[in-house]
Amino acid sequence: MTDDPDTPAAPEGGGPGADDLVAEIGRLEDDARVRVAAAGSADELRAVESDVLGKRSGFNGLRKRLGGLDAESRRTVGKVLHAATEAVGAAVIERRAVLEAAQRTEQLIDERLDLTEVLPGRPAGHLHLVTQAIQELEDVFVGMGFTVAEGPEVETDWNNFGALNFPPGHPARDMYDTLYVDFGGPGSTVLRTHTSPVQVRVMTGGPPPYYSVMPGRVFRSDTADATHMPVFHQIEGLVVDRDITFADLAGTIDAFTKAYFGGDFTSRLRPSYFPFTEPSAEFDIQRPDGTWLELGGCGMVHPDVLRNCGIDPDEWQGFAFGFGIDRLAAARHGVDDLRDLFTNDIRFLTQF
Ligand code: FA5
Repeated sequence: MTDDPDTPAAPEGGGPGADDLVAEIGRLEDDARVRVAAAGSADELRAVESDVLGKRSGFNGLRKRLGGLDAESRRTVGKVLHAATEAVGAAVIERRAVLEAAQRTEQLIDERLDLTEVLPGRPAGHLHLVTQAIQELEDVFVGMGFTVAEGPEVETDWNNFGALNFPPGHPARDMYDTLYVDFGGPGSTVLRTHTSPVQVRVMTGGPPPYYSVMPGRVFRSDTADATHMPVFHQIEGLVVDRDITFADLAGTIDAFTKAYFGGDFTSRLRPSYFPFTEPSAEFDIQRPDGTWLELGGCGMVHPDVLRNCGIDPDEWQGFAFGFGIDRLAAARHGVDDLRDLFTNDIRFLTQF
């Protein structure tokens, strides 16, 4: 007996020896098992199966040689051959199961939906600085017991000027570069130049007392510069009650500017003129460079204005003020040019 498959088996009775064939079956089985175990894919395994168990396989060649054995050897070798092919067949099935499982796992990984994936969210926007200022100022005044009133942006000449003591041709009208609207009689309709006409609407809308603020957009044909815009925002304040004095006005302005800016700023009330208040003043705040910025006008409501609104000035007194919201917001946030608020540069706006 030899291990070398090329060396012919020692003949037994003229044919191949049963022991030789059994040994060769063993070698074929070992070889087949190695190849089955090494198959790396279902296709490769199919090719190996055909090689080791198919028509041209070593096992099949041996099967043909069984005829040369005597009956007993044929039975013995036949059984060994059968067991070997069964064992190799079982190894193929086992290997196929392993390869298919691996392939399924790979496919699952490939096709997996990663539900944990986090996409960057859309950045949320925020309210414009001027809108924030309007809301903060409203909160401050509501906290002081004021109500919030509104009026239209397109106004009658009477509400914007006449009722406020600016008769037609009054020189104080020159302080307001007015935009007229082509509606009604000539010069009868304007884009409101300030929020003061809302005072008239509040006072003619019901009996005193009044504690109201009136924020809104106003229009003047001003040329835009660092402290002026043709479209800007004001917050009007009106208090009418019994025994209201200038001290109440000064105290109210002090309270709301401190609430908005915090305590740390320098301000002054400077005598001024408005036809609808007497006496009148202007409120300025000091900039870091020492210069003054006018934030608003104010004064005691003129008796003629009360009369124009059907209120008896001997019974009721009051004060009013009108502040530029854009200037308030700019001063608080250190913005030195109002135009920056409205050019809509996102890099600027996202800072606030
Ligand atoms: C008035 O408009 C008066 N109605 C204020 C008032 C109300 C006085 C009640 C008395 C009683 P004046 O024109 O000064 O006043 O404007 C008030 C404020 O609005 C200014 O102090 C300033 O802060 C702001 N303002 C005026 N013009 C502009 C402009 N073109 N751009 C931005 N802000 C402005």
